[in-house]
Formats: sequence, structure tokens, C-alpha cells
Amino acid sequence: MSQQSLDVNKKWDQVYSQSFMTMWYPNEDIIRFCARLIRKRLTHDEFQVKKEVETVLDLGCGNGRHAIYFAREGLKASGIDVSKQAIDWAIDWAQREGLDVDFRVGDIANLPYEDRTFDVAVSHGVLDHVRPQLANAAVRELRRTMKKGGLFYCDLRCADDFEYGLGTEVEPNTFMLDHGYEQGLVQHFFTLDEIKALFDGQFRIIYSEITERRLEPDYQRRYSRWILAVEAI
Ligand SMILES: C[S@@+](CC[C@H](N)C(=O)[O-])C[C@H]1O[C@@H](n2cnc3c(N)ncnc32)[C@H](O)[C@@H]1O
Repeated sequence: MSQQSLDVNKKWDQVYSQSFMTMWYPNEDIIRFCARLIRKRLTHDEFQVKKEVETVLDLGCGNGRHAIYFAREGLKASGIDVSKQAIDWAIDWAQREGLDVDFRVGDIANLPYEDRTFDVAVSHGVLDHVRPQLANAAVRELRRTMKKGGLFYCDLRCADDFEYGLGTEVEPNTFMLDHGYEQGLVQHFFTLDEIKALFDGQFRIIYSEITERRLEPDYQRRYSRWILAVEAI
């Protein structure tokens, strides 16, 4: 791992060791992604299969909530994260549930998997928590490890989000956070042009949407995320 990754590892370890980021249920937009593009339950025991899939990677898996979700659905799931603390949580969780998930400590820009391993990948809140150069390297690595036609879900903070501008701008649209439990971590706020550039020539965008929560007390502050599904070309 590079020195930069080791430093980031330490920061994320602090976040996880204080349980600030452990989440125990899957993100709703990932469940929706599955229903829209992979498999949708029609009745109690009937499914509409939209894509036959076997293998799934959770990129920046944290304590493993999405890899665990896919393993419960019967897929061969893998998860990778730079934080050893997060991966320890994830391994413990899978063991307690009797699920066989391949969790590893590692860097998303240097994936320890063979070419064309995965049918599906998901990544919640990760590619916007690294510097743009690293996000680009991670997408290249992901494309290498995914099968052609494979589906990738990711969500990213949007450039019109209410927290845009907080902290120190270290490069365009990228801020070193100086508040809360994410202090010292990087947040990039994506424009649509940046998203197109990130995937250009490697993935085709299937859908790109923005979800927005307008926050109390006056409902003027918008918590805003891109929700994306792309296909490996
Ligand atoms: C906001 S958390 C999201 C965690 C998880 N995806 C979830 O939804 O619960 C971002 C995650 O990205 C991981 N991360 C950040 N940089 C990374 C890198 N270079 N390689 C691997 N994981 C990284 C962090 O350790 C952290 O677990």
C-alpha cells in the first residue's frame, strides 16, 4: 500500500473504531438497483431475473453491509476496504451469520483480483471520499476485474450539496473536511461532466439520478447524491 493509503487507513480506522460509520442494513438505492437490473421479486416465491449473476464486489465495503446483503441473496460476495478495523467488523459479522464472504483489507486502486472476476460491483460513498486521481485509478482497476456487460452501482456526493465548500479546497470540487467525525478525510463533490469523464470509454451510464433530502429547520439545505448504474463495455 502507498503511504497515502496508509494514512487514509489510519483515519478510517479511527472512524470505525469509534463506531461512527458502522451500518447494519443495506442502502435503499442498492436494493433498488438490484430490483431494476438484476432480480425483482414478483410474488412470494417468484422472481423476474433480469441478469444472471454469480459474483459481486463491494468496493470500499466498510463493515460489510452490502457484501453481506448479496451473500444472503445467494451470490458469491467479496468486499475490500482500506480500514482493517472495518474489515474486522465485516469478518466477524459474516462469521456470526454463517456466510462465506471474501473480505480483504486493500486499496481500491490496486485490486487483488483476477481480470474479469465480477458480474456486479457496488460502491456506496467511496469514490467521492478519495482524491479524483485515485477515483480514476479505482475505476480502471474495477473495469479490469469486471466482466464485459457487468453492472456497477455507485453513489457520489453532488456538487450542489449543502456541504460543498466546507473545509479546505485541495483541488477543484475536492475538500479536506475539518468538522465532525470525518475531519481529515477528503470529500469530492461531483458534477455530471466529471462523472461522464470518470467512466468514459470503460463503462456506459445506464441511469444517473440525483436524490435529495431537504433538511430541517428551513428545508433550504440540500443533502444531494448522484445515484448511478453503469455497464462495463
Ligand atoms: C463512507 S464509507 C462507506 C462504507 C461502505 N461502503 C458502506 O456503505 O457502509 C467510505 C469507505 O471507503 C473506504 N475507503 C476510503 N479510501 C479507500 C481506499 N483507497 N481503498 C479502499 N477503501 C477505501 C473507507 O475505509 C470507508 O470504509
